[in-house]
Amino acid sequence: MSVPKPLLESVLISESDLQNRIHELGTQIVTDYENKELVLLGVLRGSVIFFADLARAIFSAQLENPVKEVQLRFEFVQLVSYRNSTKPTAVELIRGGTDYLEQRHVLIVEDIVDTGHTLKFLCEHLWTLKPKTIQVCTLLDKPSQRQVPVAIDYTGFEIPDTFVVGYGLDYAQQYRNLPYIAMLESI
Ligand code: IMP
Repeated sequence: MSVPKPLLESVLISESDLQNRIHELGTQIVTDYENKELVLLGVLRGSVIFFADLARAIFSAQLENPVKEVQLRFEFVQLVSYRNSTKPTAVELIRGGTDYLEQRHVLIVEDIVDTGHTLKFLCEHLWTLKPKTIQVCTLLDKPSQRQVPVAIDYTGFEIPDTFVVGYGLDYAQQYRNLPYIAMLESI
């Protein structure tokens, strides 16, 4: 069934601003995880484009400073959240996140943190798998929407309370392949 597309309102974060910031994040991550093995844990589906660019930014940062090496492993999880006005948001793990993480450094790669329920659920689940450390890197953060406290170690951009799409983020599974972040009219 096709969903009527609302109009794109305007570009909130341009392609070049995204790439510049991701380059900075890559440099910071290489400094922080120097000479360590790191599991980049992508949260499907929204983080895939950010994940791919961040992984390459980490590689570029190593080329700029070859004494700093970070060995990367890729893992993914997929979560669904059920929102309901009368009950707290329920989150469920539907793929991944069952293995490989024991005694590893894990960096969760998220597209956006909104209420915080998804990230809180994921961190609680991951700690049961006994990783050495868990840190969080999110491209976008809407702090004004937070309902539960969550720790975020790397943030690309803080944004206001507005619905955004593009660069992996969707509205009804559309718009994920925009190379920039845009706001939508009529949401
Ligand atoms: P939270 O559990 O409320 O923090 O929600 C996080 C998830 O909600 C994200 O991973 C997105 O899938 C979705 N989400 C929250 N805000 C937006 C938005 O502005 N655009 C698209 N998806 C969003």
